[in-house]
Amino acid sequence: MSTATELKNHLADQLKQDHLAGYSRQKLMALTEQHGSPLFIIDEDRIEAQYKSLTRALPAVKMRYAIKALPEPHVLRKLHAMGCGFDIATQGEIDLMKRCDIDATNAIHTHPIKKDTDIKAALDFGCRFFVVDNIAEIDKFIPYKEEAALLIRVNFRNQDAVVDLSRKFGCLLTRVPDLVTHAQHCGIEVVGLSFHVGSQVPSPSAHINAIEMSADLMINMPQVNWQILDIGGGFPIEYNGPVMSIEDFCQPINEALSALPPEIDLLAEPGRFIAGPSAIQLLSVVGKAQRGARTWYYLDDGVYGVLSGQIYDHAKYPIKTLKPYGLNETLYPSVLAGPTCDSIDVIDEDTALPDLQIGDVMVATQVGAYTMSSATEFNLYFKPKSLWLKSTDLS
Ligand SMILES: Cc1ncc(COP(=O)(O)O)c(C=O)c1O
Repeated sequence: MSTATELKNHLADQLKQDHLAGYSRQKLMALTEQHGSPLFIIDEDRIEAQYKSLTRALPAVKMRYAIKALPEPHVLRKLHAMGCGFDIATQGEIDLMKRCDIDATNAIHTHPIKKDTDIKAALDFGCRFFVVDNIAEIDKFIPYKEEAALLIRVNFRNQDAVVDLSRKFGCLLTRVPDLVTHAQHCGIEVVGLSFHVGSQVPSPSAHINAIEMSADLMINMPQVNWQILDIGGGFPIEYNGPVMSIEDFCQPINEALSALPPEIDLLAEPGRFIAGPSAIQLLSVVGKAQRGARTWYYLDDGVYGVLSGQIYDHAKYPIKTLKPYGLNETLYPSVLAGPTCDSIDVIDEDTALPDLQIGDVMVATQVGAYTMSSATEFNLYFKPKSLWLKSTDLS
């Protein structure tokens, strides 16, 4: 250690290293020995804790878990048992709900673009509420005007979101009156507005702005029987840097929501906040090579697998070695790579690690959301085994 800052950083790293997201090194090692690696583990208690902290932080809002984040039966059943509803976007997600014996009572179909067969499947399932953002989509509901009710998705661009979801979907606020008039002319009921200000949002200001604008619009369009405002997802989690606590994030959102008439049902579609911190992945070093100044470690999963969120979701997951190392251990400039033959499959180009050996185990944390769900089987590396465990099995 040459400078005080380096020493401080190293100590901070060391603390994190020991922390392992609150899990026990021994238990994680034992699970790898028992089940092999790579191994994806979902922690039932963390699903529960994340759901409860979000519902506590947004007491007036009903949750509709965005299944796409982690479409896993145990997760759905657990959330259903706690009273959570579901945001569905595809027939596959409907089939998953059916397999879990969950009915459509608290389901909302949020995909703004659907085939006729998607609409029929959702209606047959019993889902009544659908999101649209354009005239062509509204017209698809003419045959189903007796059964379906629509929410108009409004576009609120948000440059601060890690994933800007308003680039692809949502209409301008100024378009809403035309869309409502068109739907009403076709005899289709419009009952609400929805928006998604982007995923992994650093501050609540975009939500607040969208809520205020939506409330104004609803008040200025009394000819509509407004019943629902759906505020989407976006609630942030900690990857490699701090984020606002969920309480601080939601408190001004609650204030903005209180301006809405009390008869409006308030919904949210959280995905990342519930699923993200609830899963870890264990990976093993399967190869090691010195290339220039760096040691390359090849792991048994990478960006084509569970760590696919690094590509699709712009996430960077905390990854630590389970090998205990002390303050005096030398750290070497290292690269972590996935196992596939493609050179894009590099997890971290620039990390500092102790000297690892083939068979050493690493743990990636915060990997519950948009990871397993976007994992491919490129090179026919199959998706990892998944376990559903309690926190006590891991700590
Ligand atoms: C329509 C819709 N709802 C909800 C979500 C979940 O968002 P988040 O994971 O940020 O909570 C997404 C994410 O892509 C989405 O597209």
